[in-house]
Amino acid sequence: MPTQRKRCTSMLELDQVAEPDVGVTKRDHPDLPDGGVPGDTSSAIASVQTLMEVVSKAASTSKVVVVSNREPVIHELTARGIKAVRPASGLVTGLEPIVRAVHGTWVAHGSGPADRHVVDNHDRVGVPSEHPEYVLRRVWLTRREEDGYYYGLSNNALWPLSHIAYTRPVFCRDDWEQYEAVNEKFCDAVLDEVGEDRAMVFIQDYHLGLLPRMLKNRRPDLTIAQFWHIPWPNREAFRIFPWAEELLDGLLGNDLLGFHVQYHCNNFLDTVDRGIEAKVDYEHFRVFRGGHPTTVRPFPISVDFHQIEHDSDASGVACRLKELQAEFAQTPLKQQFIVGVDRIDYTKGILERLRGFDLLLQRHPELKGHVTFLNFSAPSRTHVEAYRELNDKIDDLVDDINWRHQTEQWVPVQFLRAHHDYSTVLAAYRLADVLMVTSLHDGMNLVAKEFVASRSDELGSLILSRYTGAARELKDALLVNPYDTDGLADRLNQALTMPESDRIQRMQRLRQVVAQGDIYHWGTRIFQEVLQLHRGGE
Ligand code: F6P
Repeated sequence: MPTQRKRCTSMLELDQVAEPDVGVTKRDHPDLPDGGVPGDTSSAIASVQTLMEVVSKAASTSKVVVVSNREPVIHELTARGIKAVRPASGLVTGLEPIVRAVHGTWVAHGSGPADRHVVDNHDRVGVPSEHPEYVLRRVWLTRREEDGYYYGLSNNALWPLSHIAYTRPVFCRDDWEQYEAVNEKFCDAVLDEVGEDRAMVFIQDYHLGLLPRMLKNRRPDLTIAQFWHIPWPNREAFRIFPWAEELLDGLLGNDLLGFHVQYHCNNFLDTVDRGIEAKVDYEHFRVFRGGHPTTVRPFPISVDFHQIEHDSDASGVACRLKELQAEFAQTPLKQQFIVGVDRIDYTKGILERLRGFDLLLQRHPELKGHVTFLNFSAPSRTHVEAYRELNDKIDDLVDDINWRHQTEQWVPVQFLRAHHDYSTVLAAYRLADVLMVTSLHDGMNLVAKEFVASRSDELGSLILSRYTGAARELKDALLVNPYDTDGLADRLNQALTMPESDRIQRMQRLRQVVAQGDIYHWGTRIFQEVLQLHRGGE
């Protein structure tokens, strides 16, 4: 294992749409290693080294196998050959630097059109292709499996069930059966990668809720940890899930189960207490099912602060920024830009954000021609009806706002629906006078942290929904309730008219928080916990 982190310029060669879904500060968590400070490369290297040391202790005789539905790289066919594309995913943004650092194996669904062209006989491909730092093992799914397990049970049932965004979950037995079958498929692939070795298996998210129990049944010696990247609902919301007992039993196959915030851990323990035969130890946040303990802990996820800062300062991003300025500065008048960056998802509060902007223009007609709203929006899960409906509603609202406010020279809203590449996303952050994150409910929301990491110029204001995990840390953002349109319009006006000194001070404090609680601290804390579990078992 390397002892020093490599600067990965190759990230800029990948096309990426950052979904932009916390780190914790040393102030809040005195057990953390010292964090970095903005612009200080030595502290960035130190935080990677700390992770590496903890991982090598935790995994001294073990492999590290990470498992997720979404793969870190999708291969696509283009006129110029096969291209590697980074998907829009908070999970990928957060986890990729860690898997690179530990040189692990990543097992994931091979969903790209050219994925099969680049794998070897064992369905493996090195990533990144020029200088592989880890192995990606692809799992193939039939259309029926993908439909039932991914679109159905994961995103039409568990996703709305877990997010309080007032979209009703849809339950269908066939989807559940596909979910079980696909979890078995992942189990086979993981065991194949583990072979005879000892291993730590680190599972991601709600797509793979049955996998921990399946693995534990077949290989009790494995250390199994899982991170649930979305909120865990309160027990009243969860009790309508028809396969509650099976899912909870699946998750209790884990040795360690992580959520973003303490509140989600509390919800999980309450759900288990009422929903399944198990002993809940509230004092140590542990559940015993059939004698096996599962430790439940909050690990707020974050981003690779120094990498994003470095990439944002690159000349390619500066060029892209100039292009965006030229494209969207529609009038010779002084322009300000309000920016949104998301997957198109009903949890992100895109309609609410647009309504806030609309009200701002109604109340302040003097802003017309001076403020443009740009939403960089990645299409997502469009096979699910709720997502198709959302897209239609967004189109109608954008059309309506533009119709009512536009002038001959100026269109107020540009809804840029595309898989924007990584440099475009970073340039969009740099372009933003105001970045709006208005999720109705979000486990973390890494867009907020990416934005902060990208602003080494210390400019730009962040408007952030109170209902994101990130809001618990990013206290110098302008916090909003996205359902309160009047409040949103007020906050927008405040952000646009804020004195520069105030804006800079807020951004400096935000950057300090994200730099200190970067993704390596997240990984370090998880592996430290795994180490403690090992010690406890000795
Ligand atoms: O952050 C939650 C999450 O579901 C991740 O698991 C996922 O990678 C991301 O949102 C994007 O969703 P999807 O993988 O369905 O495109």
